[in-house]
Amino acid sequence: MAAPRSPRPVVVVTRRLPALVEAQVAAEFDARLNPDDHAFSAAELSAALGSADALLPTVTDRLTAAVLAAQPLRTRILANYGVGFNHIDTAAAQARGVVVTNTPDVLTDDTADDAVMLMLMVARRAGEGERHVRAGAWTGWRPTHLLGTRVSGKTLGLIGLGRIGRAVAQRARHGFGMRVVFHDPYPPPAGVVAELGAEPRASVDDVLREADFVSIHSPATPDTHHLLDARRLALMKPGAFLINTARGDIVDEAALVAALKRKTIAGAALDVYEREPEVPRDLLALEQVVLLPHLGSATNETRVAMGLRALENLRAFFAGLPPRDRVA
Ligand code: 8YV
Repeated sequence: MAAPRSPRPVVVVTRRLPALVEAQVAAEFDARLNPDDHAFSAAELSAALGSADALLPTVTDRLTAAVLAAQPLRTRILANYGVGFNHIDTAAAQARGVVVTNTPDVLTDDTADDAVMLMLMVARRAGEGERHVRAGAWTGWRPTHLLGTRVSGKTLGLIGLGRIGRAVAQRARHGFGMRVVFHDPYPPPAGVVAELGAEPRASVDDVLREADFVSIHSPATPDTHHLLDARRLALMKPGAFLINTARGDIVDEAALVAALKRKTIAGAALDVYEREPEVPRDLLALEQVVLLPHLGSATNETRVAMGLRALENLRAFFAGLPPRDRVA
């Protein structure tokens, strides 16, 4: 005989979340937590889809069409923890009647801060300097030691002017007196652009030709896959830097390594990678590259807010209301 169903919806939370969020999910739902915080395999995801009314997944859960073909399927909503949802095959979810939500807004400022931090780090050789000090190699101040590139007053090129791109533009303009140029196939209203003091460009190529720093703020979609390929990287100025806090596969990583090795660009600062958590050995070996482990939204404040936002979507859904952040 089948076990009687819990009166409260069963929610599988695929990774450890901040304690406050886990407590709140457990207070409102029949929560199945992941105490050892391991990344779920495809088989575990399929099992969760068969046994839970909802999943609260993260970027490490590859909810592919094959996984979403799970039989039986009990799950009715994937309340994703994160704004990006390219790890979820939304068409497959939709085809099986599974709603998908995300957590926009709450991570905008911290992710923009991350992009600015990376820009400063790579321009001012902060990673190199830190490695130097920690290695005990520092022999003292000298006028020509570890000279970097000025950020203030330079031109920042934004690929994408959505929420995070706009927050970066605001910091760059008002914090560093930078000129901001951008390309976005779906730009915000002209008034918003004017208020930011950002200048539209007709194409990604135009932005790349002009910018001293290029920062990526597009979603990962089939259209943006390898958007920065060898041809486009070759359009960047020899002294320019690439910053990526969006998704790894927007950049052709092999082409980026080649450009860095040939020094056709000055450096790169990356928070995301094509095959996370794998970081190409070639990148690890290059001094003019800053490498962070996907830290865009990694503050206590934002990680709690992301959890509460996912919870808000679950609460609405199971109350029969339209969840605020439905994306599929
Ligand atoms: C998250 C992110 O940490 O929200 C996103 O899209 O990339 C990060 O801020 C991650 O996705 C959590 O699942």
